[in-house]
Amino acid sequence: MEIEQDSVILALGGSDALSDMDPEARAEALEDHLSRQLDNAVFLRMGAPARPMTVGELDAQIDQRPIRRGIGTLFASGGTSPFGNRVPEEPANVSRLTPMPQRPTLLDFFRLRFAPATHVLQSADKALTSGYPEEIVLACLLHDVAQTLMKADHGWWGAQLFEPYVSEQVAFAIRYHQALRFYPDPSVGYEYPRLYNVIFGTDYVPPPHIEAAYKYCRDHKWYMAARLVTVNDLYSFDPNHKVDLEKFTDIIGRHFRQPKEGLGQDNSASAHMWRTIANPDAPL
Ligand SMILES: [Fe+2]
Ligand SMILES: [Fe+2]
Repeated sequence: MEIEQDSVILALGGSDALSDMDPEARAEALEDHLSRQLDNAVFLRMGAPARPMTVGELDAQIDQRPIRRGIGTLFASGGTSPFGNRVPEEPANVSRLTPMPQRPTLLDFFRLRFAPATHVLQSADKALTSGYPEEIVLACLLHDVAQTLMKADHGWWGAQLFEPYVSEQVAFAIRYHQALRFYPDPSVGYEYPRLYNVIFGTDYVPPPHIEAAYKYCRDHKWYMAARLVTVNDLYSFDPNHKVDLEKFTDIIGRHFRQPKEGLGQDNSASAHMWRTIANPDAPL
């Protein structure tokens, strides 16, 4: 990437501010600036507006789109952008899905329906590298995949999808990460994500059910499990950092109760959700 010196100096607070910094702080500021630039370039390609908007401005766009923002990514071409726009680089039509095996496993769903799953793989990889317990790594791996089905309230959809197959703690972490991500926790270095100003609006206030979930979770014995999902949740996107799904095969084997009939075929409370993900082309 070509760096334009003057604009970089300006973005870092001007040459006076820069000369006051020690070399380490300067290097850190530069790295932060470059990663923001990369994020912004990636966001623009994903259909982000040129500047963050208010809640009112975002609301005004609702009837200007053919699809609603909460739609699952399997149901529109190229997935749907978190910004509510069609991803400009993606084809106009949805693709033909590879049929699922008769007794599909979680890994089959990852390969054939959740793919590329870059965000959750990177999050789980970060948790693994940081040395967190295996159940936290699994929660990170699973935390957002329900967005293929439904993005609105995806923490609750995700917890319901996985509840028959994982420990209560993992389901708890998946459910409550959705509420916790709006609330900073300095004790673990978690800040309000800058990206949320773009996605939710600069003056966004979480609705009452999210605030209530946060308060409930904050005093719960598994608070840290859900919190660690947000800590490892990546809000910057490096499309070139590929993480191999195979890395997590053993953790899945130890902590995910794969039904022998196959996901969707086992009459569990969420089997219908797995079938919908397996065949989103079913008309009714
Ligand atoms: Fe999430
Ligand atoms: Fe996430």
